[in-house]
Amino acid sequence: MAGLDPEDWSGIRAMGHQMLDALFDRMEHVGEGPVWRPMPQAARDELRTGFPAEGTSLEELHERFTELVIPYGNGNTHPGFMGWVHGAGTPVGMLAEMLAGGMNANCGGRSHAANEVEREVIRWALSMVGMPEDGSGCLVTGSSMANFISIITASRARDPSLRRHGVGQSRMVGYAATTAHGCLPRAFDLAGFGSEALRRVPVTGDHRMDLAALRQMITEDRQSGLVPFMVAGTAGTVDCGAIDDLQGIEAIARENGLWFHVDAAFGALACLSSRLKAQLSGIEKADSLAFDFHKWAQVPYDAGCVLVRNRELHAAAFAQSLDYLTREARGLASGAPWFCDFGPDLSRGFRALKVWMTLGHYGSQRMGQMVEECCDVAQHLARRVQATPGLVLLAPVTLNIVCFGIEGLSDQDVSELVQDLHESGVAAPSTTRINGRLAVRAAIVNHRTTTVDTDRMLDAVIALAADRRG
Ligand SMILES: Cc1ncc(COP(=O)(O)O)c(C=O)c1O
Repeated sequence: MAGLDPEDWSGIRAMGHQMLDALFDRMEHVGEGPVWRPMPQAARDELRTGFPAEGTSLEELHERFTELVIPYGNGNTHPGFMGWVHGAGTPVGMLAEMLAGGMNANCGGRSHAANEVEREVIRWALSMVGMPEDGSGCLVTGSSMANFISIITASRARDPSLRRHGVGQSRMVGYAATTAHGCLPRAFDLAGFGSEALRRVPVTGDHRMDLAALRQMITEDRQSGLVPFMVAGTAGTVDCGAIDDLQGIEAIARENGLWFHVDAAFGALACLSSRLKAQLSGIEKADSLAFDFHKWAQVPYDAGCVLVRNRELHAAAFAQSLDYLTREARGLASGAPWFCDFGPDLSRGFRALKVWMTLGHYGSQRMGQMVEECCDVAQHLARRVQATPGLVLLAPVTLNIVCFGIEGLSDQDVSELVQDLHESGVAAPSTTRINGRLAVRAAIVNHRTTTVDTDRMLDAVIALAADRRG
């Protein structure tokens, strides 16, 4: 056999079946054992073999993977994982990753079926949030990249000359609430405007953008010679899951001729729930939208998505004309526009297959129901927090995030308590600050997390807090 293919196909076939069986065993029993365990130094050292001159058998590499890698994972597939905003994946997504790997498609462009799957997935995403079906979009690494692409598109729509001449001494500014995710100021930084060009609007007591303050800031900024070009609302803030008044922000954006962007990294999935979707009203009016399939949609990492209402403006921000990438009328080089016209990546993997297979397998109704189930678990946890002396709910539970404080403990104690909890392997919440106070933060993004898991987490917190109080 020429090249790198195996001489013995039957051997690699048997090995592949063995790997797959091991993965299914692990997924079937994913809730057994600790959520997370620290990787011992000895295991880290064993991984440092240096770049081998001679090859290693697949059997041995798989053995090393089984011993050194899989036991020390991030924990987000385990039902006790409630930290940050992590999806848990599904066996369907795992299989789709393998199928996509087998095709090894480059989805930057050209005329082939993988791109048609991505186009279909983008149509599903547009319909999920209610944006027009002639909008555009593409799959990216995550919402950080999707927000960045949106900022680039919005600024180039306002001033197309930025593409050739750069931002220079630009006075262009955008707006987002103080609660917006850190990837938004970073997008302004990366786009060359500087992170301070994203003006931070204060929030009201319910953790939503203060619209009166937004109006006032736009007026004052104009008077001082700044050039407002966009405003970003958040549908599901990272700290407590609040949803900005998207209708209200859109109205202010239109009055002022601003681009209306929505960061709905995980919140977008709530559009699939008839019970929850009214809270996101206005999302369908977005000029651009960032969200992730790898979060609440449970597609394996990574699978972010950017959607843009006006496909011409989207392409105008990224498309190039290059001799070695000519788009033809027919043949393999046809099929324009290509996905490389909608973002900075030329080479792109076949992310769409795992999205298409996961959403296709479960369907929008089951996905909406799963989102509601996560919110129900969060409500259960919130009720238990409120019923427990010594614990205090620090923010309303709008969707799936519960933030609570522990009376009698300093911020340092709370931080250490959560580290103890991680190391105990019982549960993995994270922390954030709510109104200046350190909170234990449980985000129920994982479809495997039930009230049994949140009860176990809370019981462990109560016991650890009692120990700390002495
Ligand atoms: C509201 C919000 N925006 C953006 C992001 C960044 O998403 P990603 O990690 O996929 O880049 C997150 C991540 O949790 C988020 O919650």
